[in-house]
Amino acid sequence: MKSRALLLLSLHILSRTTGEPINKKFPENFIFGTATAAYQVEGGWQDDGKGENIWDYFTHTYPDRIANGENGDVACDSYHKYLEDVDLLKNLGANFYRFSFSWARILPTGKADQVNQAGVDYYKNLISALKSNGIEPFVTLYHWDLPKPLEDIGGWLNETLVEYFADYARLSFTLFGDDVKNWMTFNEADQFCQVGYGYGAFPPGIRQDGIDDYLCGHTVLKAHAKAYHIYDEEFRATQNGRVSMVVDTEWYEPASDSDQDKEAADRKLQFTFGWFANAIYHPDGNYPQVMIDRIADRSQKEGFSKSRLPEFTPEEVDYIKGTFDFFSLNTYSTNLAEWSDDYAIGNPGWDADTSVTTYQDGSWNSSASSWLKVVPWGMRKLLNWINENYDHPEIVITENGFSDHGELDDQGRINYYTEYLSAILQAILEDGVNVTGYTAWGLLDNFQWLNGYTEKFGIYQVNFDDPDRPRTPKASTEFLKKVIATKCLVDVCED
Ligand SMILES: *[C@@H]1O[C@H](CO)[C@@H](O)[C@H](O)[C@H]1NC(C)=O
Ligand SMILES: *[C@@H]1O[C@H](CO)[C@@H](O)[C@H](O)[C@H]1NC(C)=O
Ligand SMILES: *[C@@H]1O[C@H](CO)[C@@H](O)[C@H](O)[C@H]1NC(C)=O
Repeated sequence: MKSRALLLLSLHILSRTTGEPINKKFPENFIFGTATAAYQVEGGWQDDGKGENIWDYFTHTYPDRIANGENGDVACDSYHKYLEDVDLLKNLGANFYRFSFSWARILPTGKADQVNQAGVDYYKNLISALKSNGIEPFVTLYHWDLPKPLEDIGGWLNETLVEYFADYARLSFTLFGDDVKNWMTFNEADQFCQVGYGYGAFPPGIRQDGIDDYLCGHTVLKAHAKAYHIYDEEFRATQNGRVSMVVDTEWYEPASDSDQDKEAADRKLQFTFGWFANAIYHPDGNYPQVMIDRIADRSQKEGFSKSRLPEFTPEEVDYIKGTFDFFSLNTYSTNLAEWSDDYAIGNPGWDADTSVTTYQDGSWNSSASSWLKVVPWGMRKLLNWINENYDHPEIVITENGFSDHGELDDQGRINYYTEYLSAILQAILEDGVNVTGYTAWGLLDNFQWLNGYTEKFGIYQVNFDDPDRPRTPKASTEFLKKVIATKCLVDVCED
C-alpha cells in the first residue's frame, strides 16, 4: 500500500481554488444544450407498433437486477409528452437538444424492410417542434436499446449487425437528414460492450470478459465507420451535416509521481477511452498499441491461439480512421490510478488486461452515484489530454452532469455545473482547447439503467408517483438558463 497522506498533499496543489467561478465569457459561437436517451425517458414501450428492445426484455425478465425492480415502460412518458419537453427546452433557452432514436420504434424488427410509420412520425413531430422553437436537434442513433430480434442472432457479436446498423443509419439520414445536422452513431460503446458482453450486468447479460466485449467493440467500430461513409458518400453534399461517435471516460490521475503510476493512468485511459477513440480520432487509427501488445501477450500466455483482441486489416484501419466531423465526449468524474501486479495470468478479462487499480479520494465532494465525485480539475486535464493526443480536434461535450435525490433546491448540481464549466472555460481560454459545445445531462430525472429511479440527474424534476409525470423546474434550471443567456458563470463577466 502506498502512503495516502503524501498523495493528498500532492493532489492539493492541482486544484483551482473552488467557489470562484471564472468571470470570463464563453466564446460567441459556443452552444449549450441538454440531453436524454430514448429508453430513459420515452416510455410507450409497446405503443403504436414499436418493437421490443433488449432493455424492455431485460428489465421485464430480470427485474431483480434493477433497483426496486423498475423499468422504462413509462419512464418520463416523453413519447406522449414531447411537446412539454420542448417547452422545457425553450424555457431553458437551450441551443440544442441531444436525444436518441429508439431503433425498434422506427424498425420494430431492427431490419429496414419493415418501417413503423408511427415511430417515424413521432420523431418527425419532435424534430419539427424543436426546429420551430429554434432548438437544433442532435440525434444519437444508438443509445443502448438494440431491437430484440437482432440480439437473438447474436447482437454485436454478429458481424452482420454492421449491415443492419448501416441500413438503419441510411434510413435515418434519408428521413430526417434535411432537419438533423448533427448525428452521433453510438453512445458510449465501452459501456454497452464491457458491461453487456463482458461483466454481464447490462443486457444481453453475457459474461465473456476479455473476449466478447472486444468482439462487440470490433463490430461497433465497423458499424460506425460504415454509417459515416454512407453519410459522406450519399448525404453530405445535399445535407451538409456532421457525424460523430460519442466516447466516454473519466479522467485518470496517477496516484503518485512514480513512473509506474503515470504509466498506469495512461494505460487506463487507453483501455477505456482509446479502445474506441483511437481507431476513429487518432491520426494513426487502430486500437492503442498498448492494448494490442498487452492483450496479445496475455492471450498467448493463457493458451489462446490468437489475441483475444480482434485485429483490423490495414484497409479496415484506414476505413475507420478519421470517420468524424467533431469529437463527442461524455465525462463526469475522476479516478486515481495505481499500477497493479495483482492480475495473474489465467483469468481473461478487461481489468486484468489493463492491470490498473483505481479509486477515488475520500475528500472529494460526492453525489448520489457512488462513482461520481466532483473533481473539476479532472475535466480540464482530460480536455488537454484529448487535445494533445488527438491532434487538436473540435470537441463537443455531449454529456456532463451531477446526481442527487431529486431535490428542487439542487445546490450540489449548481456547484457542479459552476465548477465544471469553469474548468472548461480555462481549457478554452488559457489552454487553447477547442471546445465548442456543452451538454448538461440531463433534461429530466429519468430511468437511470440499473439504478432505476434512485439517482436523479435532471435539471427538471419528474414526479414518477404521478401517472401524468409532471415536470417541475429545479434551482439549476434558473442557473443554467442564465448561463446560456449570458454565456457567463457570474453576475457580470469581464468583456
Ligand atoms: C464541495 O462542496 C462545498 C460545499 O457545498 C463547496 O463549497 C465546494 O466548492 C465544493 N467543491 C467542489 C470541488 O465542488
Ligand atoms: C448472424 O446473423 C445472420 C443473419 O444476419 C444469421 O444468419 C447468422 O446465423 C447469425 N450468426 C449467429 C452466430 O447467430
Ligand atoms: C474550432 O474548430 C472549428 C471547427 O473545426 C473551427 O472552425 C475553429 O476555427 C476552431 N477554433 C479554434 C479556436 O481552433
